[in-house]
Amino acid sequence: MKTLILFSTRDGQTREIASYIASELKELGIESEVVNLHRNGDIRWDNYDRVVIGASIRYGHFHSSVDAFVKKHQQALNVIPSAFFSVNLVARKPEKRTPQTNSYTRKFLLNSPWKPNHCAVFAGALRYPRYGWLDRTMIRLIMKMTGGETDTRKEVVYTDWPQVARFAHEIAHLSIK
Ligand SMILES: Cc1cc2nc3c(=O)[nH]c(=O)nc-3n(C[C@H](O)[C@H](O)[C@H](O)COP(=O)(O)O)c2cc1C
Repeated sequence: MKTLILFSTRDGQTREIASYIASELKELGIESEVVNLHRNGDIRWDNYDRVVIGASIRYGHFHSSVDAFVKKHQQALNVIPSAFFSVNLVARKPEKRTPQTNSYTRKFLLNSPWKPNHCAVFAGALRYPRYGWLDRTMIRLIMKMTGGETDTRKEVVYTDWPQVARFAHEIAHLSIK
């Protein structure tokens, strides 16, 4: 039996976090499979004893495929021990890095038919040089308004990797029903 780790990413940071969780679980002797949620085929749920879903925010929203996936698989998700993590830049501020204080995550959990057993919020990455002109301009404006990095030559990874490692350990201890 394995842990299924599904990720929804636009720029790759959520995939990196998913892979980091997988490597932490491996050290704990837990095998996992990291799968792109946007490209999943038919999922054989009976192959897995836990599931983790991670998704990033863009302009205030998770990708619509996340909601569609959860809706489609809600029955399986509500039976298997499960965890959710969200990735965004608001969470670079520690006080906005919990499921209760991060509005994207709070809203998602409130409206979701899936009730994960465990949940975390991680700060993502700011990679100005990789964005197109419009996104770069918009993100810079948001950063300026919220007291963040405005130097568009910079790439900053805000992810707190020890926090991700702690989350992996908590996943390892999710009780198998
Ligand atoms: C075009 C764009 C829009 C974004 N919108 C938001 C936002 O509304 N709120 C937020 O907290 N972070 C926002 N972010 C930051 C992303 O959530 C962050 O860069 C995250 O690491 C992206 O994860 P990914 O690489 O897995 O897609 C945005 C980033 C980009 C490039």
